[in-house]
Amino acid sequence: MTAQEIIGKYIKFFEKRGHKRIPNSPLVLQNDPTTLFTSSGMQPLVPYFLGEKHPQGKRLVNVQNCFRAADIDEVGDDKHTTFFRMLGNWSLGDYFKKEQLPWYWEFLTKVIGLPKEKLYITVFEGFSNTPKDIESEKIWTEILENEGLDSKKKIFSYGADKNWWSRSGVPDDMPEGEPGGPDSEVFYFFENVKHDPKFGTQCHPNCQCGRFLEIGNSVFMEYQKTKNGFKPLPNKNVDFGGGAERLLAAVENKNDIFETRLFSPVIDSIEKITAKNYKKNKKAMQVIADHIIAAVFITDAGVTPSNKEQGYVLRRLLRRAIRYGKQLEASETFTAWIASSVIENYSDTDSQLMDRKKIIIGLFTEEEEKFNQAIREGLKISEKIFLTRTPIVPEEYSKIMQIPNKKEFFRNIFRKSDFKETANFLSGFGVSLTKADIGNATISGNQAFDLYQSFGFPIEMVTELAQEKRLFVDIEDFKRELKRHQKVSRKGAGKKFAGGLADHSGKTIMGHTATHLLHQALRDVLGNSVYQTGSNITSERIRFDFAYDKKLTDDEIEKVEKIINKKIEENLPVHFEIMTLDKAKEIGAIGLFDEKYEDKVKVYFIGPSTHSAASGQPHTQAYSVEFCGGPHVNFTGLLKRFKIIKQENIGHGQRRVYATIKDV
Ligand code: SER
Repeated sequence: MTAQEIIGKYIKFFEKRGHKRIPNSPLVLQNDPTTLFTSSGMQPLVPYFLGEKHPQGKRLVNVQNCFRAADIDEVGDDKHTTFFRMLGNWSLGDYFKKEQLPWYWEFLTKVIGLPKEKLYITVFEGFSNTPKDIESEKIWTEILENEGLDSKKKIFSYGADKNWWSRSGVPDDMPEGEPGGPDSEVFYFFENVKHDPKFGTQCHPNCQCGRFLEIGNSVFMEYQKTKNGFKPLPNKNVDFGGGAERLLAAVENKNDIFETRLFSPVIDSIEKITAKNYKKNKKAMQVIADHIIAAVFITDAGVTPSNKEQGYVLRRLLRRAIRYGKQLEASETFTAWIASSVIENYSDTDSQLMDRKKIIIGLFTEEEEKFNQAIREGLKISEKIFLTRTPIVPEEYSKIMQIPNKKEFFRNIFRKSDFKETANFLSGFGVSLTKADIGNATISGNQAFDLYQSFGFPIEMVTELAQEKRLFVDIEDFKRELKRHQKVSRKGAGKKFAGGLADHSGKTIMGHTATHLLHQALRDVLGNSVYQTGSNITSERIRFDFAYDKKLTDDEIEKVEKIINKKIEENLPVHFEIMTLDKAKEIGAIGLFDEKYEDKVKVYFIGPSTHSAASGQPHTQAYSVEFCGGPHVNFTGLLKRFKIIKQENIGHGQRRVYATIKDV
């Protein structure tokens, strides 16, 4: 069975149960300021979990291309990838646990034929005031006992760190307004893998030894974070997600997903170009394969390497892959070769990659040449910097490297006032270091920043190089330095790179409504050939990209602002209607829209809603009519005042404007 066949069977299974297939959203979401990339199938559906009506109804299914920047460091453990395809089915206030859990079990055991003995279940054991998920446990007990399995040996309970899902993680990290809920996961057991006691005496589904692989997560989205805790969402929703790559690994019974037939052509091409063996160079080859696949899809989404946001992540992926390529003595500009094999490999499902092949290969080659040049010079300088430091002795350093959750440790280690705490923490792992040992082995933020600024070495690369020399890098200090130099808000950048959230404030929603006014006003002033190509909204500002190849004059900017401020003063109502795609087109709805699969669409109106398409002539009294998932404010008057603060040429015949709104 191929990954493609698994995807087909899954979609069909849920379509048969009344689900409508919705499109794979772009990897870089328009109108979503909260993350840099689509990292879960549910992400484009957030407004519907919060109570908006979905045009396709209450049962949805799809396969979504996802990218998780937060997993970059995990790649290399046989099971993590940053890019993956997530199978997803959703109930928006329709069915709940007693349908979802048996359906998924049926899909796994009957449709794709996984042996039931190899499947294990986890459920939520409760946290603070949120109770244990007794219902899921009961449903699973029944399912397993009916199959003649001993449920006591098969069902495991975990706390919020494992069995709670929200886009920002555990309940404490969720911002106000964020939806989330307990979840129940299914794991596949690889009996050929031996438990490694390094990960604990007892093996269990969430053990990191590699015997268990999570293959699906049913989230019961029923809560919304409030100031003091949680309140119920308007509906009890189901949000299921499962990686197609992992399901394939289970179907093929391969505990290393890079050995499945989906990845093996890419690994083969890496083996060929490096003349090295995969088994002996697993981590490097997994990183190269994963990062080039992700970089191909990110480039396909219109991102180019840069030092900001999505462009920075793309640069980081490419440069990390190149560095691992160097370890394997790959020839210069090898990324183009691997990218060709990736594009070919994925062209069955993503045929557009073939059309964009030249552009993708061109960008990779350019970035690789730039980086090769910088690397040669930068490595010499970094060596000099490293020589000024004193490495930690090998035995102590290797103990540190085995500390679980090292990241947290490295974050705290430089908090000088807390050294006692650091020392206690370290002694818990049998490590004894003085404050001076740590200080002498540390690359300062300033030194790391020099390598970043002069040679484009991402901080992760500096850290890896330092680790090879048994040194530390003061990452927090680097971040402060970066902030000083680039005026990049730590909040925005740090959180986004971690795949977390910006905010869900009312101001962001106002900004979203403002982009609709801006879109229409730009067309009024510059002509109807103008159309939106992207946007990004935060509570501080609106960023809006559109197809237009000239600089806007001061006069044009003033006209656009005037129109929008007039529409704000008129305090127009904002509302949506769900209609057929044909009707939306007839009444002249504009906006970014993917026509695949959708027959009903959601259209937002700003202004009176009466509309008709009599004699083929679109007619509506609304000022703006646009395809959109929402959310929006109810009246434009809330926006108070709109102002364009900056414009830029972003290439390929596109311009970008930044604007602000002033609320009450
Ligand atoms: N949102 C959940 C996840 O990403 C399930 O779809 O795991």
